[in-house]
Amino acid sequence: MLKTLEKIPAQDPLNDPEQKAIIDRILLENKGLPGATMVVLNSLQEAIGHISPPMQVYVAEQLGEPVSRIHGVVSFYSFFTTTPRGKHTIKFCMGTACYVSGIEQVIEKAKQILEIEPGQTTEDGLITLELCRCVGACSQAPVIVVDEEVEGRVKPNRFPKTIQDIKTKEE
Ligand code: FES
Repeated sequence: MLKTLEKIPAQDPLNDPEQKAIIDRILLENKGLPGATMVVLNSLQEAIGHISPPMQVYVAEQLGEPVSRIHGVVSFYSFFTTTPRGKHTIKFCMGTACYVSGIEQVIEKAKQILEIEPGQTTEDGLITLELCRCVGACSQAPVIVVDEEVEGRVKPNRFPKTIQDIKTKEE
């Protein structure tokens, strides 16, 4: 967990004047209001696309909160990300039904093909892998969610086609 703002990477949103202005506007609009932390973090995720570690420190400083609290909230909720998401997101349901139906083998296949772990994005910025909780389609377990679309009864050997479909959409 980053604790101070001493070293901000060059590509961080805090170093981009346009993005910094958006961050400051969101903070200014909400500072001092009840529930400001959640509102600020939600708005930042939506406007900037992620909440980098330096952004978490900056938000903590500006709202007068401990960095550990901001970090705790960002890591607890899966809709917050600390790096930019790829153009497409594939989520793997980790709910009980999907777990016992073999979602882990599907995840293994995805890791093998894309050479990234859940929580990471491919180098070309095309695909992000994520884990999620039950999406309410347990009867179709194991389930993945490609962008907003639920795909059920997923088999590891069908996963290359899922990737191929995403790539074809991009051509
Ligand atoms: S456990 Fe996966 S959809 Fe419910």
